[in-house]
Amino acid sequence: MTVCPSMSSPISPLPNTHMPARLAAARYRVYQLWRSLLPRPLTNDDHDILIATLPPAGRAVFASMSRNDQRHSLTVYRALRARGCDDADLLAAALLHDSGKGGGRVRLWVRPPVVLLRAFAPRLLDWLTRRAVNGTCVPRWRRPFYYAWHHAEIGADLAAEAGLSERAVLLIRTHHQPHGPAAELHAVDDAV
Ligand SMILES: [Fe+2]
Ligand SMILES: [Fe+2]
Repeated sequence: MTVCPSMSSPISPLPNTHMPARLAAARYRVYQLWRSLLPRPLTNDDHDILIATLPPAGRAVFASMSRNDQRHSLTVYRALRARGCDDADLLAAALLHDSGKGGGRVRLWVRPPVVLLRAFAPRLLDWLTRRAVNGTCVPRWRRPFYYAWHHAEIGADLAAEAGLSERAVLLIRTHHQPHGPAAELHAVDDAV
């Protein structure tokens, strides 16, 4: 996949929180990462959820994610269901919201640096994840950071190609916006 400047939407400004809060958030994210190093295989129940929620091409996108991202997505799905959610678009978006990290685009090693840079060196992260200029493509060495930061847009494009509804695609594209169309997905994603 080439990484070209046609991918839209600017980098979100980082929240202006106090250092202790940012440190706590970064520590929690790193803990989440290590907790997910040995994810359980999918169960029959998990496969039933996928069949009931995603079209075949959407299930192929799901399968392109790492096992821990698959497990995370199912956890988000189940958390939404536990809150009484029966919104088909939102539940499909839950299963594919991080699919932009799949296909080997965002390997595990890149995630702790992104979390720590976001908390403590946002300008450096902004530089690492910036788009290419003048029609050139993002240099190969910067792509893991670019993909990590822009995975919502990449996942939305994959979901659109897989035939998900326009609304489900929008929910994936905006799942990092706390007050956007996917606010409920964002809240659950942040909490699990
Ligand atoms: Fe995400
Ligand atoms: Fe997520």
